[in-house]
Amino acid sequence: MIKNISVIGTGYLGATHAACMAELGFDVVGVDVDPEKIERLSRGELPFHEPGLPELIRRHVDSGRLRFTTDLDAVGSWADIHFIAVGTPQQSGGTGADMTFVDTAAAGLARAITKDALIVGKSTVPVGTARRLRDLVAEESREGVRVALAWNPEFLREGFAVQDTLRPDRLVVGTDSPEDEATLREVYADALSRETPWVATDFETAELVKVAANAFLATKISFINAFSEVTETVGGDIRTLADAIGHDARIGRKFLNAGVGFGGGCLPKDIRALQTRVSELGLDHTMNFLNEMDQINLRRRDRVVTLAEQILGDLSGRRIAVLGVSFKPLSDDVRDSPGLDVANRLFNSGAEVFVHDPEGNANAAKRFPRLGYVDSLSEAAQDADLVVLTTEWDEFKALTPADLDGVVAAKNFLDARHVLDAAQWEGAGWTFAQLGRHFPQD
Ligand SMILES: NC(=O)c1ccc[n+]([C@@H]2O[C@H](COP(=O)([O-])OP(=O)(O)OC[C@H]3O[C@@H](n4cnc5c(N)ncnc54)[C@H](O)[C@@H]3O)[C@@H](O)[C@H]2O)c1
Repeated sequence: MIKNISVIGTGYLGATHAACMAELGFDVVGVDVDPEKIERLSRGELPFHEPGLPELIRRHVDSGRLRFTTDLDAVGSWADIHFIAVGTPQQSGGTGADMTFVDTAAAGLARAITKDALIVGKSTVPVGTARRLRDLVAEESREGVRVALAWNPEFLREGFAVQDTLRPDRLVVGTDSPEDEATLREVYADALSRETPWVATDFETAELVKVAANAFLATKISFINAFSEVTETVGGDIRTLADAIGHDARIGRKFLNAGVGFGGGCLPKDIRALQTRVSELGLDHTMNFLNEMDQINLRRRDRVVTLAEQILGDLSGRRIAVLGVSFKPLSDDVRDSPGLDVANRLFNSGAEVFVHDPEGNANAAKRFPRLGYVDSLSEAAQDADLVVLTTEWDEFKALTPADLDGVVAAKNFLDARHVLDAAQWEGAGWTFAQLGRHFPQD
């Protein structure tokens, strides 16, 4: 019977997974190389923003069912299952995935494990990794100890991470033995009792399911944004277009929201890593379309800056409010954030930039300390020559012209997420630009 679980890496994925495993009744230890993170988690404090997770962590730390350590050896002799949830960022100076953290964690675990156990990779990795790690683990593990390996990619969405982990829409496990699949069925018995689809497959398929899902989502976003480039040129309404094609059940409306595009710690680096891996396999052209999706996505950021220049002329010394620098609402994650990139580009063009994000300011300030960071929307918009909405937080979506009347210096608004009602703002005397909509000065 599975009782003890370790989770290696306690970032967005690992901290969530550890807390949810404790919620399911297992005894859990989270391991990380960052002592500050471990110290905070041990006090029941979450070092990042994720709705519902602080309560879960506190409850299970208090009950003693969830603990944290930097000591890998301590879990090697204790856990039945070890989940690997460390980062796989883009290589610095390259487009492939940096596998250093996964390789270090797997080799370290293999050496630390002193009783039969299963290592389960959850990180997003290039296809071929699981098979390679299985051999690495076999070489590094102690004699007489069976250390098996499985891959179980994670599909959680930041902002909904707890719900997605406890109530996943599917579970995918890649194993090379029925015994290891059975062990994972035991871990996920709760979800299985609710008839969650269970996809049991080989290593390669499991690894590819994750990157294929991300590639598809990125493509869907860039697809509608490519049409935005067209409607910006000829006129037309991108939202109506998205609604109309979305009514087709084969297409669906989700992920067809035109705007400043995707970002975050997953989609951008995952589509680049997939192209790189597939090229390494000798399939030079197969994933080339993803490069096009990446370019469409990055061009949206240029478009925001161009529109700002069309509205204000030279940006030097102009005051611009940027609303939203986390890569999406309900998160403080600013990795590859379109809003933060836009804020920085506006700053580099000479503008004085004031940023407000309900959760992302602190992380953004670590990355770009020269931007102005303020605690409220109205402080950001105070005396602004232009207000730019870059992340669709509810408080920004609820904005009306009256909220900014008498606050801004000039009535100029750029809705880079296509979430506000143009007629309402134009009716109130604003110059109102949206991505995906023809702008009179084009
Ligand atoms: N964030 C998401 O929404 C999400 C969703 C699905 C999949 N993923 C994938 O999950 C993985 C982790 O992503 P994340 O967003 O949680 O990253 P993260 O950067 O928030 O967390 C990674 C953690 O791993 C720790 N770490 C690095 N090397 C270690 C080692 N040898 N031993 C112990 N800890 C170590 C780091 O200190 C860090 O705390 C990535 O492969 C990512 O693509 C993330």
